[in-house]
Amino acid sequence: MPIASRTSKATGRHRDAVTLLKSDHQQVKAWFAQFTKATDQVRQGTLARDICHALRVHTTLEEEIFYPAFLESTGNKAVHHEAEVEHQAAERLIAEIEDSTPADDFFTARVNVLGELIKHHVREEEKPAGLFAKARKAGMDLKGLGAQLAERKSQLEAERREEAA
Ligand SMILES: [Fe+2]
Ligand SMILES: [Fe+2]
Repeated sequence: MPIASRTSKATGRHRDAVTLLKSDHQQVKAWFAQFTKATDQVRQGTLARDICHALRVHTTLEEEIFYPAFLESTGNKAVHHEAEVEHQAAERLIAEIEDSTPADDFFTARVNVLGELIKHHVREEEKPAGLFAKARKAGMDLKGLGAQLAERKSQLEAERREEAA
């Protein structure tokens, strides 16, 4: 089971939205770092699958719940739209990775470029005057949103388990 789903069950309901989203970032960054060191294709394939799944869940949570709440509270279209466009770019790469295997000539390049893109995107969200800081400053209900995110996350993980069964 991916670590992300374990943590959401264990502590998700008690964390605010930003803390929950940041811990997703940490998990995915750790997997990308492991990917760059992985030498066998089985390990590379497993890591890429876990990364793509975690990013799909994470971007869905942000796009369905956190970003709309951010736009409503701050009215900051520039920051909101940039984040959405970065997600779209990531989603294109995720789809390509999911459609290929580690034996594919471009597999490693796709995962590494996705890692760069995500690193940039995470920095934009977490930097001192970034999206998360602006959300806090605007007085968004981060506890309430955290509960919503945790609930939706469990739902998405359950759907995935059903699909895999
Ligand atoms: Fe994020
Ligand atoms: Fe994001």
